[in-house]
Amino acid sequence: MLELLGLSKRFSGIPVVNDVCFVARPSEVVGYLGPNGAGKSTTVKMLTGLLPPSDGEIHYRGENIQKRLIDYKRRVGYVPEEPYLYPYLSGREYLQLVGRLRSIRDKILNEKIDLLLQLFSLFPHRYAAIASYSKGMRQKILIGAALLHNPELLFFDEAESGLDITSALVFRSLVKALASEGKVIFYSSHILEVVEKVCSKIIILHKGRVVANDSVEQLRILMQMPSLEGIFQQLLVQRDPEKTAAEIVELMKL
Ligand SMILES: Nc1ncnc2c1ncn2[C@@H]1O[C@H](COP(=O)(O)OP(=O)(O)O)[C@@H](O)[C@H]1O
Ligand SMILES: [Mg+2]
Repeated sequence: MLELLGLSKRFSGIPVVNDVCFVARPSEVVGYLGPNGAGKSTTVKMLTGLLPPSDGEIHYRGENIQKRLIDYKRRVGYVPEEPYLYPYLSGREYLQLVGRLRSIRDKILNEKIDLLLQLFSLFPHRYAAIASYSKGMRQKILIGAALLHNPELLFFDEAESGLDITSALVFRSLVKALASEGKVIFYSSHILEVVEKVCSKIIILHKGRVVANDSVEQLRILMQMPSLEGIFQQLLVQRDPEKTAAEIVELMKL
């Protein structure tokens, strides 16, 4: 299991992640929910070993990940929030690059990549440059790249962004299937509805601090709590799109 012990990160002395503690167990999908700027991506960067904590420790299987960081990183799959891809490579070439960096043998790697591209409906575009891909297609490449080496831990940071409805539904089922394979899964998102559908446990982060840590079943009860009401206001999808649209049209006439 993965344990966060008083995890904190400060940038120029300003706390961004503040004394975060929780546990993620295999087969659990831990949702990490919070408004923009709450500190989710910063937490994920520490959990993947990319950013050292300012304070506190992360333990995996009882050992501080900083002690054997390279070994830990081998076990990690990560879909970052910002899709840094190489636009001049084709989707297939990018996956080959990632697979080789992960030391997967060429024969198995190519087989995996072709199957993955087919399952993600990207096979017809496999030789096209990533520069020509839509946001959703890029996102699928990033998700595929995180899965190639069959990692024990998976960190998804706003991983659904840009996916069309069908792809998003496949992705949600995939997350659940990975959980039943015994993976540790961390699912960060600012969208309440998505986290609610995918996760088994929810941690709510606000201004760098954990304000709730509970099962998804408890979520609706948590939402009624006066102390959390304001936070949930920021997390819910706006319910009155027509009114907003009408107001925009009116403002254009001013
Ligand atoms: N490298 C950095 N240097 C300074 N401030 C940062 C850095 N990375 C993130 N921050 C700040 O930390 C806060 C949390 O950011 P982030 O973890 O990306 O939030 P979230 O993913 O929840 O939207 C924001 O106010 C952001 O501006
Ligand atoms: Mg973020």
